[in-house]
Amino acid sequence: MRAVDVIDKKRRGEELTPDELRFLVEGYVAGRVPDYQMSAFLMAVVWRGMTAEETFALTRLLAESGETLDLSAIPGIKVDKHSTGGVGDKATLVVLPLVASVGVPVIKMSGRGLGHTGGTIDKLESIPGFRTNLGVQELVEQVERIGIALGGQTADLAPADKKLYALRDVTATVESLPLIASSVMSKKLAGGADAIVLDVKVGDGAFMKSLADARRLARLMVHLGEAAGRRTVAVLSNMDQPLGSAIGNALEVAEAIRVLAGEGPFDLAEIALALAEEMTVLAGVAATREEARRKLRQSVADGRALETLRRWIAAQGGDPRVVDDPSRLPQAPVVKPCLPKKAGFVAKLPALAFGLAAMRLGAGRAAKDDTIDPSVGIVVHAKVGDRVQTHRPIFTVHARTEEDALRCIEELEAVVEISDDPVETPPVILARID
Ligand code: URA
Repeated sequence: MRAVDVIDKKRRGEELTPDELRFLVEGYVAGRVPDYQMSAFLMAVVWRGMTAEETFALTRLLAESGETLDLSAIPGIKVDKHSTGGVGDKATLVVLPLVASVGVPVIKMSGRGLGHTGGTIDKLESIPGFRTNLGVQELVEQVERIGIALGGQTADLAPADKKLYALRDVTATVESLPLIASSVMSKKLAGGADAIVLDVKVGDGAFMKSLADARRLARLMVHLGEAAGRRTVAVLSNMDQPLGSAIGNALEVAEAIRVLAGEGPFDLAEIALALAEEMTVLAGVAATREEARRKLRQSVADGRALETLRRWIAAQGGDPRVVDDPSRLPQAPVVKPCLPKKAGFVAKLPALAFGLAAMRLGAGRAAKDDTIDPSVGIVVHAKVGDRVQTHRPIFTVHARTEEDALRCIEELEAVVEISDDPVETPPVILARID
């Protein structure tokens, strides 16, 4: 077999056999297939697509390229959660302790963020002392002890995907449904969970800009999970504006704490509850989504959700006092409010612009090795559809310097739109696919 013939076959739009895909992927990881041939292949996939069978074969190859976790030592049905990524998306920080508090065992490997704001690991590391470099054995033991653990992704999980993703990033080949679906699902399969809940973001601040594309991606990922024998459900949610109010690592932790106390913003609480509900049913802890919702709400109301968060933080070396006193989280030296230029109704609060502005403040990474400042970010005080007045801030910037704050305000004032006429509040959850 020659790589050039396999590339040519895909370029002509034909279906590849699992052996042909294996030849390319294994050859690439071993260094026999060079970057330039893999790049040509990826571009052919972007244009020609892949059948469901090809996509499944690719997913398995990526998943099996490294370690696959065996979580059978943990009793119960283990459910993983994955978000395709968005601005202000701190749902994992809410969902994990929430489901653990009703008896769903959770073990999760998360990544650091690149671009926009930080990833879950970055957010958790804003808690003084919180350790995320736990080995698999340590994670498993912690779940056995307290029902919840989260660690950084080990280098050994789907290493072929890591290498391919880096190549896709610099060859304009990220945006392909089969490539995105196989990349995401390979890591989920290697992570060893019995069931998977996917949060597929749709809109300005997400990979998928249209609902139709997001549906196709969600259907494909659900198919891949089910074909691998893992119950998989996808929830499609809005990412045209930031999720919740806070963007920036410590600010997002503080907001997640408020939601677990029953006080946070409606949209974040709604998506967290929807995802937690799915996980609780898949884990067999509730028979229906309605029953799950009742249990989860009860856990927030009686303080068990918050107590689970305290125990989780303490177990991973963090200071659990942040839960009752968020001022113990890193605080930015400059806090500057922005007043709207006119009164009216918020019509646009574009997620991507807010994410990039927060990144420039130091909340995210422009390059892989950039360091993050956990204290900086933006808090929005009004969402699309809300009425604003000129004497009340529409958002507040938390920055390292006065100059950074002013630049951020100027940048965002140019993209926020306020309408004279009432604007409808957009829905949070757009669809559910199982
Ligand atoms: N996230 C991933 O893990 N892979 C992709 O291809 C896109 C988003």
